[in-house]
Amino acid sequence: MFVSENLNVNEKGHLTIGGADTVELAAEYGTPLYVMDEQTVRSACRRFNDSIGKFYGGKGLACYASKAFSCLEMCRIVASEGMGLDAVSIGELYTAVKAGFPMEKVGFHGNNKTDEELNYAVECGVGHIIVDNISELIRLENIAAEKNAVPHIMLRIKPGIDAHTHDFIKTGQIDSKFGFALETGEAFEAVKQAIECKNVKLMGVHCHIGSQIFDIAPFEEAAKVMLEFIAKVKNELNYEIEGLNLGGGFGIKYLNEHDPAPFETYMERVSETVKSECEKLGIAQPFIYIEPGRSIAAPAGITLYKVGARKEIPNIRTYVSIDGSMADSPRYILYKSEYEAIVANKANEERSERVTIAGKCCESGDLIGENMPLQHAESGDIIAVCATGAYNYSMSSNYNRLQKPAVVFVNNGESRVAVKRETLDDIIRNDM
Ligand code: LLP
Repeated sequence: MFVSENLNVNEKGHLTIGGADTVELAAEYGTPLYVMDEQTVRSACRRFNDSIGKFYGGKGLACYASKAFSCLEMCRIVASEGMGLDAVSIGELYTAVKAGFPMEKVGFHGNNKTDEELNYAVECGVGHIIVDNISELIRLENIAAEKNAVPHIMLRIKPGIDAHTHDFIKTGQIDSKFGFALETGEAFEAVKQAIECKNVKLMGVHCHIGSQIFDIAPFEEAAKVMLEFIAKVKNELNYEIEGLNLGGGFGIKYLNEHDPAPFETYMERVSETVKSECEKLGIAQPFIYIEPGRSIAAPAGITLYKVGARKEIPNIRTYVSIDGSMADSPRYILYKSEYEAIVANKANEERSERVTIAGKCCESGDLIGENMPLQHAESGDIIAVCATGAYNYSMSSNYNRLQKPAVVFVNNGESRVAVKRETLDDIIRNDM
């Protein structure tokens, strides 16, 4: 009935998530509130791990892309499921370290890593660093030499695949700020240079074609292109690249009409492609990494808001204003992303109207969505916006000096705070 499987309606007609009554959560913890269902996170992790086991003989590691949603508790949960982690900044690395994450399972990304970040990544013993450009390779080689370390690296490659998704979240095409281009020979030159480095060990190549992708074909295509590259390196440089990182980007259901392929189908088809291509090219099957972010975090989450003003503009539209905004939910203003919304205390009622849900920032574009089917919402009602577990908290800001909401985890009806709500003192904490 609802877009995420963890949502239901209880005997009071209230929306529940992971067995917890969302109206009670809003009353207990206040709004706006991010709620994450622990079991949804765990089951997504298990499905990734199990499908690597089933379709690729376990010769791979799924690394949660923590840019989607990072906090200590999320890192602990993901670690306890045996996942790896993809971190993109010193802040995400630090969070993983403090959560006790096994750092040898962490890959460190970034198109412009600072020396401070590279130093920290080497010091905390990350499993591998995904090198994006030559300046980084040289800087890392020097940093590693000073520390007498030999960090493992992958090279980020632009495979030249067009993924059918929003322009802002495409990354695999030649005109991208990420990685080395294949077509121009840049990637091959980078491999040569990396092999010559004494203080880094080239163990893999990486590609990521974009995010919120529904088709499997572009992933298969990317795998083929990357394997051909691995074969070229083997044949021409006599060097064996053992690891192939295929990135993340698996689409999720934000609306009922969305129909992403299940991860199992992705893993089955991509594993088949990898196996048959390796045979054809005469190379060993690589160890595979994948980096799902959204598909683990998004369906686990909802955001709860309280309705304030309602403005009906005859023949134009109705605005339902909430106590949150683009500061906690920036994806509509950035990508026009669509969400399902439910009046949590009227979850059994018909969605009888179409409204614009507006945030409270001083910015006309600050909307959660337009033309959204919704139960009749009035001041004091609680609105749940669904599938917000990825890229909402992690992209939130303090615009208008708003305080960031708390994050609560629910687990089989029980709830606990994972991130406290910011206070007014937090807002001026760094002011002098
Ligand atoms: N690996 C790499 C190298 C990435 O750049 C990304 C996402 C991922 C993995 C994880 O992708 P996912 O499985 O979550 O699709 N803020 C945007 C999404 C940006 C994605 C950036 N990179 C949004 O809210 O839609």
